[in-house]
Amino acid sequence: MKTKDTKNNLVEKPNRIYGERKNFGEEVLSKELGEKYVEYRKKWIKASKRKIVTDFPLYVQIEHVGRCNLRCSTCINGTDVLRENYTKGITKPLNIKLYKKILNEAKKYNCPSIAFHNNDEPLLLKDLAERIRMAKDAGFLDIIITTNANLLTPERTRQLLDSGITKLSFSLDSWNKEDYEKIRKGGKFDIVLKNIEYFLKEKKRMNLRLPITRATCVLTKFTYKDMEKFRNFWQKRVDIVEFQNLQVLKGHTENLLPPGAKIDNTFICNNPWEQVVIRPNGNVLPCCSFYGGGLILGNIKNSSIYEIWHGQKMKKIRKELLRNNFAFSPICKMCSETFYTL
Ligand SMILES: C[S@@+](CC[C@H](N)C(=O)[O-])C[C@H]1O[C@@H](n2cnc3c(N)ncnc32)[C@H](O)[C@@H]1O
Ligand code: SF4
Ligand code: SF4
Repeated sequence: MKTKDTKNNLVEKPNRIYGERKNFGEEVLSKELGEKYVEYRKKWIKASKRKIVTDFPLYVQIEHVGRCNLRCSTCINGTDVLRENYTKGITKPLNIKLYKKILNEAKKYNCPSIAFHNNDEPLLLKDLAERIRMAKDAGFLDIIITTNANLLTPERTRQLLDSGITKLSFSLDSWNKEDYEKIRKGGKFDIVLKNIEYFLKEKKRMNLRLPITRATCVLTKFTYKDMEKFRNFWQKRVDIVEFQNLQVLKGHTENLLPPGAKIDNTFICNNPWEQVVIRPNGNVLPCCSFYGGGLILGNIKNSSIYEIWHGQKMKKIRKELLRNNFAFSPICKMCSETFYTL
């Protein structure tokens, strides 16, 4: 995760890395959720700048299902060998007992934000809406989902609109059917459009301000020329339109880079100050990078999140990253060399 651009910018400037959270409806959420939300965002800014280590992560990103219905060419799930390695030993969704354990601990520390996806598809989780409600009952303020929307049926739409999510991001990666289906392999553009239109219509009909909706596009050789078209199409429909730079999977996806894209040598990582990622097998990671799957800090079956957050491994990672020394870990080194800018 990069920190250089902390200024809120809704459209033109691509995100530094997927997962970066810029202005995702801050004004509306401050109004809807009040002082607690404002306080959390103030802390978030300090943590993002790596100025504080909070008592407990501000953001718990949970990979509940650990698999995906698509094989996007940009993603770890789109390359067989990488997907097999990443999902090795993951056969079932996160057990509900472990999930309750996470929620109990998060409640104790008033953890403000949670997400229901990592490198997987949250709508594959049958009891997603129920798990969201459980998170709401545990006191989470900011409840975030990123989805490919292929499985966003009218029934799932109604469940989600009743569940209490605050932010819903639709990953589209193209404004047209041809490129969409080339990039988002297995996805059906017409179905996605229909699903999202229905969601937005229902939200309007129910007169809901939340969730804040966002359409995102990862910039590849297929899409970098079409930012204007993507924005024009989506800004009439959703609250926020956002472009994201491509993180390359070394040795696999360089061919997707827009012409002239350069390695971004201003990379700074701030994930370990903001969040933990929890995988379906209970493994805890310090980041949502594709490469982060190899940085296992511990497992919630035998440790608390608090212990992991303040543990030696996490401390070492923060210490080295603060000096921008990525070479201390082959994983961070590789990750730091895979961010490109236009
Ligand atoms: C990995 S997906 C997981 C959630 C869900 N399956 C989806 O696609 O929305 C999370 C986000 O990562 C983005 N993404 C995929 N490959 C990427 C890459 N190589 N670089 C940057 N972002 C990427 C996706 O477009 C999506 O918005
Ligand atoms: S839908 Fe999301 S998780 Fe699935 S392959 Fe595409 S980017 Fe990856
Ligand atoms: S792999 Fe290392 S450098 Fe990359 S996001 Fe994770 S912690 Fe940061």
